Amino acid sequence: MSASTPASLHPEVDIRRAEPGDLPGILEVLKAALGETPLLRRSPDLWRWKHVDNPFGPSLVLVAVAGERVVGVRALMRWELVGPSGARLRCLRAVDTATHPEFTRRGIFRKLTTAAVEEAGAQGFDLIFNTPNAKSGPGYLSMGWRPVGRIGVLARPRLIGASHPGSGLARVDEYLPDVSPVDPALEDRPPRGWRTPRTIAYQRWRFLQHPTARYGMVQRNDATAIVRANLRSGRPELVLSDLLGRADPAPVRAIARRHRARYLAGWFSPGSPERRAAIRAGLVPLPVTTLRLVARPLRADLEVGDLSRWDLATSDLELL
Ligand SMILES: CC(C)(COP(=O)(O)OP(=O)(O)OC[C@H]1O[C@@H](n2cnc3c(N)ncnc32)[C@H](O)[C@@H]1OP(=O)(O)O)[C@@H](O)C(=O)NCCC(=O)NCCS
Repeated sequence: MSASTPASLHPEVDIRRAEPGDLPGILEVLKAALGETPLLRRSPDLWRWKHVDNPFGPSLVLVAVAGERVVGVRALMRWELVGPSGARLRCLRAVDTATHPEFTRRGIFRKLTTAAVEEAGAQGFDLIFNTPNAKSGPGYLSMGWRPVGRIGVLARPRLIGASHPGSGLARVDEYLPDVSPVDPALEDRPPRGWRTPRTIAYQRWRFLQHPTARYGMVQRNDATAIVRANLRSGRPELVLSDLLGRADPAPVRAIARRHRARYLAGWFSPGSPERRAAIRAGLVPLPVTTLRLVARPLRADLEVGDLSRWDLATSDLELL
């Protein structure tokens, strides 16, 4: 698809690449379709962080327009995954997607997604991946996406001494005394499966430049745990976002002893040393599915595999 030859889809709805002036309309559609939380405001700042400042490059963004009005949006963030052999995958990560409630069930999501897949293939990308919700999941599977696996949660509740939930944004130091700002030059280990390369630029963007989420780190025994504060269903939660350096339980244990949230919770790929470290520090795998990872290969020779082929942490799955 090209910007000059929009695909006609419905008498009055066309698909085209987004232009800078579309941003207010895009944010309106996201707000109307997905809503907002105190941690997830559909603000121009959050959009810029995700889709402009991303160290992997600017996003591929398509819009559906009815006359002058944006009625659907499909944004795919550029991403990179590196495998154990050093092979690199040029990826897109399907994130913000929404159709305005007045325009749903007319094929807009399907048309936007089909156009994005075509464009991604033409630009030489290898793979699209994402964690769709229950509404969009069936649509993706019918468009060539494959299920990779279910993401669960490792958690350790704190039954006494938890803080009372605040009303707005939680700051990580409210839940964890003496937490340090994240040093964006932490060493990462070699990938065991498809893994986001945690370069300095990536760590700076991911953990220091987020417009709303505030991260902190705790270091012990050459291991660094990165955490952020969250409210889940009104309960204060400390999210174990990543564990870098040596996969040692010591920083997670230190956090588990001192934090004042109701839960410490995170997730690491099955079989990973970080998962073992988190479990040794007292986190327990809960029998729940929080997200479903799906992927769409754009090359015939690429197998997405199951979760054992992916090397992920909480920080790879959420964008807070
Ligand atoms: C999910 C959403 C993007 C679908 O947009 P849409 O333009 O109405 O979707 P389409 O008309 O192109 O439908 C494509 C397919 O998606 C699936 N789908 C769409 N809406 C669905 C719903 N409410 N329930 C179940 N499946 C649904 C169906 O498989 C559908 O195929 P079908 O019409 O042949 O049955 C839209 O409902 C929306 O914006 N929802 C709120 C935001 C959201 O949940 N975004 C996804 C975040 S991961």
